[in-house]
Amino acid sequence: MSDRLLSRREPVNVEDVRGRARRVLPRILFDFIDGGAGDELTQSANRTAFARVPLDVRSAVAVGTPDLRTTVLGQEVSLPVLLAPCGGVALYHPDAGRGVTRAATAAGTIAGISTLSGELLEDGLAPGDTGRHWFQLYKLGGAQGARALVDRAAAAGYRALVVTVDTPLVGVKERDVRNGGVTPGGSAVSRIDLPTVLRMGPKVVGRPAWLRRFVRAGMPLGQPNVEALYPGGGPAAVDRGMAAWRAEPFVWADLAWLRERWPGPIVVKGVLGARDARRCVEEGADAVLVSNHGGRQLDGVPATLDVLPGIVDEVGGEIEVYLDGGVRRGADVVRALALGARAVFVGRPYLYGLACEGERGVARVLEMFRAELTHAMILLGCTDVRELDRTWLVRS
Ligand SMILES: Cc1cc2nc3c(=O)[nH]c(=O)nc-3n(C[C@H](O)[C@H](O)[C@H](O)COP(=O)(O)O)c2cc1C
Repeated sequence: MSDRLLSRREPVNVEDVRGRARRVLPRILFDFIDGGAGDELTQSANRTAFARVPLDVRSAVAVGTPDLRTTVLGQEVSLPVLLAPCGGVALYHPDAGRGVTRAATAAGTIAGISTLSGELLEDGLAPGDTGRHWFQLYKLGGAQGARALVDRAAAAGYRALVVTVDTPLVGVKERDVRNGGVTPGGSAVSRIDLPTVLRMGPKVVGRPAWLRRFVRAGMPLGQPNVEALYPGGGPAAVDRGMAAWRAEPFVWADLAWLRERWPGPIVVKGVLGARDARRCVEEGADAVLVSNHGGRQLDGVPATLDVLPGIVDEVGGEIEVYLDGGVRRGADVVRALALGARAVFVGRPYLYGLACEGERGVARVLEMFRAELTHAMILLGCTDVRELDRTWLVRS
């Protein structure tokens, strides 16, 4: 924990960073990050689930400095908070994926880089920063495209492959439809193109700092990973890649060839029940990430914290289980770990930080989690995050 006093203008928590991101980003981008599918019921359920899990404090224990370290897939991290793979990072700040991975490395943790990051996957890693971060795969371009992406990710030095299974199509976020970035069918969600941005004209003009950065970065509106799959590239290639993904969404049989082809561990992201978690074990996955995509896919699926214990009971003795969705506080991390998650991932929190200050903003959000987690552990009376289990929760 830092003893430095904050100036009155500095954000104190993730919600403050979110407020700043709202002021920095054009509305179409802020809403794209901030919003969820349908009525956003699942998205808010992710948050409220944490409030229903009270912590069982052990008083009069001298904790000293709690140990926040753990391992994920054999790799040590300095705190059990990792950065979830998110699309569009190149749009929010020119530091983009490399800013995200650099901040994660500096903090001693791991970042996931999305197929739809908006830059070449090779650009998401700083030179020499290999063997640490994870690449998230969508089957853009179908199986053929996915094979090319996987080979490139291995050659670039990503350590683990995150296979997202909850996206046979991209969920419709109605804020995006309203902002004119997406058709009600959701078909243009992955591509906020120049005409869209120009339609946003007045609102973009009101965000001069973002606009300056965006223009200086060469207006990165494309999806280079997908464009590289087809000769000629450009929006037509993105359309082809998306169409092939729709035609050949991820199915369990894909894990067999992915296991053969990918040299490192495989994490299946988007599991919400014991049955699918069991299937992950049967198909040879190394870990599951309990996720509903931050409430961005099917509105109405449960909060991730609510389904975590059942999944841990089913497969926790065999493979690692992680959680994401609504983690905003150090005490949320405690609850998820106490319910059996090995580590958590955060998505929107670091995107807000990235939008505000690039790599530095991502680092700031990670430090907030570290400080809050340290504080929560001392007050809880727990010396080591690896000791957290259900005995640290009040039984309901
Ligand atoms: C703007 C945005 C883009 C995302 N893009 C992807 C993606 O490309 N691939 C993926 O697997 N998950 C994606 N996600 C989901 C995150 O990986 C993660 O599951 C989610 O953000 C966790 O919830 P949280 O934002 O409440 O922390 C995205 C999330 C956001 C907010």
